[in-house]
Amino acid sequence: MFKVPEVAQNRLPDLLKLMPKAELHIHIEGSLEPELIFRLAKRNNVAIAFKSIEELRSAYAFTNLQTFLDIYYAGASVLIHEQDFYEMAWEYFLKASSDNVVHAEIFFDPQTHTSRGIPMKTIIEGLARACRDAAEKLQISSALILCFLRHLSEQEAFETLEQALPFKDHFIGVGLDSSELGHPPEKFAAVFAKCRDLGLHLVAHAGEEGPIEYIWSALKTLGVERIDHGVQSSKDPDLIKYLSSKRIPLTVCPLSNVKLKVFAHLSEHNIGQMLEKGLCVTINSDDPAYFGGYINQNFIETFEALKLDAHHAYSLAHNSFEASFASAVQKEEWYRELGQCFKRFTGKE
Ligand code: HPA
Ligand code: ZN
Repeated sequence: MFKVPEVAQNRLPDLLKLMPKAELHIHIEGSLEPELIFRLAKRNNVAIAFKSIEELRSAYAFTNLQTFLDIYYAGASVLIHEQDFYEMAWEYFLKASSDNVVHAEIFFDPQTHTSRGIPMKTIIEGLARACRDAAEKLQISSALILCFLRHLSEQEAFETLEQALPFKDHFIGVGLDSSELGHPPEKFAAVFAKCRDLGLHLVAHAGEEGPIEYIWSALKTLGVERIDHGVQSSKDPDLIKYLSSKRIPLTVCPLSNVKLKVFAHLSEHNIGQMLEKGLCVTINSDDPAYFGGYINQNFIETFEALKLDAHHAYSLAHNSFEASFASAVQKEEWYRELGQCFKRFTGKE
């Protein structure tokens, strides 16, 4: 067991920035910065409802998940060509690299684009090319996870899967996102069963603003391996017991939760308590262009608000690797690098 060294509170932000980490909950369309939205809108001749970057940014005042999603889908309408998808993902990788992300499992929402007539091939090949470049030029390993939009029907999810199967080598799993309330996981039981048979990994957003029952349903009916968000779990001791005994990870996104009013303030966030209870929780950025920061910003603000320390930092980074879909050999390598980083940081190596 690695002995985490003591680190002075004022040196913690540097450690948080420096430590290697995995990001497991990032919607690539949520990394579209206003500058890139405007650049692509101009290049592709797409009209957008905002006159300037500043006007667009000032519309990022959300009251719940749906008010965010309306703007998020509008922003994604500027993505037309393979190169657009490539540039969006490449810009994310540059940010991830400067945050010392060494591995990213990235959500994409094909239905947001295929519904506008963009071919599945254009979407997936653009994203996959950025993933290859990230490995080669930035030494970041990555994988794509195709998300079904839960406000649409299961039949539409099946059709989307069908369109994506020719590109199956380019994604490792499926997820479930978009408007949670009124769209329980069990609505997608059959398509998730098919994906399981295809050997794909399974994850789902649950318990972001939806009820605890949705988390149970994602686990028991869909059979997911990770819960995205899942912050409502802390209200159910049986669920906490279940998650911790099975080491089922929760990919938590603190700045997102505050921006979407799941918690009134970061100081009220329950990630510290869940970590103390032994849950495999991780910190992620969700939609960093919309929620006020990339992964390191999430770490820094959360640690400051909740007064977390180096032990929490080590656990969160370790959890991020443990919760990933990488191989056991690769995880061991990351654990070693994480330990070395902590030792180097305190100058005790
Ligand atoms: N929740 C649900 N759907 C989403 C989100 C989210 O936080 N971000 C992008 N799609
Ligand atoms: Zn999300």
